[in-house]
Amino acid sequence: MKTLCLYYTRTGTTKEIMENIAKLLDADVAEYTDGKDRSGFFGYLGACFATVKNTKVELKGDIDLAAYDRVIIGMPIWAEGPSAPGRAFIKAYADKLPDNVVYVIARMGTRDYSKKIKAMDKLLGKPSSGQISIRTKDNDYLKDAADFAKTL
Ligand SMILES: Cc1cc2nc3c(=O)[nH]c(=O)nc-3n(C[C@H](O)[C@H](O)[C@H](O)COP(=O)(O)O)c2cc1C
Repeated sequence: MKTLCLYYTRTGTTKEIMENIAKLLDADVAEYTDGKDRSGFFGYLGACFATVKNTKVELKGDIDLAAYDRVIIGMPIWAEGPSAPGRAFIKAYADKLPDNVVYVIARMGTRDYSKKIKAMDKLLGKPSSGQISIRTKDNDYLKDAADFAKTL
């Protein structure tokens, strides 16, 4: 099965997780972004505001989504739900994604947000094939990512 691992990241953690999953699954990796500089305190603030606005995202590089049987979409949690760029990506690219879509979500806290993650299927327009949210603080998140990859 040809798999593509995608990520949006603000501070690099989701990228690290998706690169590790890609290595285990022998998959390709690509980044999507809304191109906004969200570094530092003002970047954080902008990210908070982004959760209530739409943001326009683009897939970086020359990626043909039609060439993949499965796409694993990585994104962080922002303000108690999947981050704005992640949701915007699914909305914008839903009709180009294969039937097999999996969500991998990075979060800091103890809540797993499983219902809000599953609710992205509304944007996707079809049921996703799987999901995980991984705690990135005080946790061996790469082990959790590897354990999940083994189930795919
Ligand atoms: C604006 C903002 C809001 C966040 N809100 C939450 C939250 O509600 N719950 C949570 O568990 N983590 C929250 N986080 C933490 C991130 O989801 C977590 O640190 C994640 O690992 C960051 O991934 P990244 O390094 O790929 O950007 C928030 C981060 C940002 C920037």
